[in-house]
Amino acid sequence: MLILGLQGSPRKKGNTHDLLAMFADEARQSGVRMEIVDVPQTDITPCKGCFFCEKKGACITKDDAMNESVFSLMRQADIIVTAAPIYFYNVPGQLKNLIDRTQTLWARKYRFHLADPGRPWRKGFLLSVGATRGQNLFEGVHLTMKYFYDAAGADYNVDDCLTYRQIENRGDMRKHDTVRNDVREAVQTLIKPFANRKCVLFACRENACRSQMASAFAQHYAGDRIEAVSAGSSPATAINPLMKTVMEEKGIDMAYRLPQSIDTAVASKAPEMVITMGCDEDCAFISGAEIDEWNLDDPAGQDISFMRSVRDEIETHVKTLINNL
Ligand SMILES: Cc1cc2nc3c(=O)[nH]c(=O)nc-3n(C[C@H](O)[C@H](O)[C@H](O)COP(=O)(O)O)c2cc1C
Repeated sequence: MLILGLQGSPRKKGNTHDLLAMFADEARQSGVRMEIVDVPQTDITPCKGCFFCEKKGACITKDDAMNESVFSLMRQADIIVTAAPIYFYNVPGQLKNLIDRTQTLWARKYRFHLADPGRPWRKGFLLSVGATRGQNLFEGVHLTMKYFYDAAGADYNVDDCLTYRQIENRGDMRKHDTVRNDVREAVQTLIKPFANRKCVLFACRENACRSQMASAFAQHYAGDRIEAVSAGSSPATAINPLMKTVMEEKGIDMAYRLPQSIDTAVASKAPEMVITMGCDEDCAFISGAEIDEWNLDDPAGQDISFMRSVRDEIETHVKTLINNL
């Protein structure tokens, strides 16, 4: 399970930073993997408004943190937590740049009609602070979050938040009477629905084709019933573009997925079930897990019709697996 925190304040060691740090401590103490992107410290380029994403489904800006890591983390995350101070009734500009760039995800969803496999269960959450007492202090940011999380493929409603008024100077957040209890309760409520998912690892050699397709189908069809993870015994540097194309034919969006090693995949949580599909003896070391072997041909380097037939075979296997869970 992964929680992604987007730290949105440019003030170092300020209130937002402290609030998100409390949240991360609680999550990590509960055994959850939490990654934080310190947004103002990254090089996220503002949206150019060129509409390239609406025509091509990808952002024209390729060489910044958004394209190289943030999109991918957003797609992997089970929960996305945005932490932001109020700046003129909205979020600081650096964070707004990240939000504007999710127009690419909006385009993939609404222009290309592709389903993000993580969408069925992903949650969006807000941590926010402001200096004044105004009743409408968080109204602007709630609206921004509603549409940001819709593009990012996450459920969000205005109750999914911790917001604090009259927090202005460094250290104010840490001195707040109820914040630690509030954070503890919020984290426990957020992670509870994920606790009983059966963790299934799909493993092949490169984690570029077969195991990627299997995990995406499992996420797509099983939703929050299983935690589907994929990995390779010898991971490639990128997923196979032909595999991406044949999954898009099925309406499933594989954008921003990255191959990973089996060691990385099992580091934060040991799978209860491992399904191997061509990593041979390299997968056998995962002890304690129920192991199943799917005999699938390797479609790497083959033509699109071969890729389609392997995709369809995997889809059938996954549906059977889910029915038997
Ligand atoms: C540029 C700027 C704009 C701000 N606008 C607002 C505002 O509209 N309403 C408000 O209550 N506080 C506003 N604040 C105050 C911050 O929200 C407040 O000091 C907050 O605690 C800062 O959080 P941080 O320490 O995480 O940066 C503003 C601060 C700055 C620097």
